[in-house]
Amino acid sequence: MTGTDHKKSDFDKMIESIQHELDTEAEATFSKKVLDECKNPRNIGRMEDPDGMGIITGPCGDTMEFFLRVEGKKITEIQFMTNGCAPTIACGSMATKMAVDKPIDDVSKITNNDLINALDGLPDENKHCAKLAVDTLQKAIENYLIDKGK
Ligand code: FES
Repeated sequence: MTGTDHKKSDFDKMIESIQHELDTEAEATFSKKVLDECKNPRNIGRMEDPDGMGIITGPCGDTMEFFLRVEGKKITEIQFMTNGCAPTIACGSMATKMAVDKPIDDVSKITNNDLINALDGLPDENKHCAKLAVDTLQKAIENYLIDKGK
């Protein structure tokens, strides 16, 4: 092993230990569901030519977008995008799971608390992330209904 390799390996160990510390901290702060949704976000992307689209920038400066495909009165496809924090990604991901294949009427009744409960809770300082996700989802529905003149 050369000196450089040795240094690199120390560096890798340091990164691993920092990562481990962060993971442990995250596990103590967030539910398993939040961690799973932000590590493997579902339905992330920007849909081409959606039937409905909502975009909101929250007071924290993060932006969220939701895109809907609607057939009849049902949301058949949904995607989200955000530049926000990890909990925001988890909120977007879970919100899409709660909305896909559901009637628009039911999805328009989803509240911040429904989303927080579906994620098995969020720390107080991240509850606004759920509000941003739900507000943006509702905005996409509202825009769809306005466009369709319904
Ligand atoms: Fe801004 Fe999460 S910190 S939405």
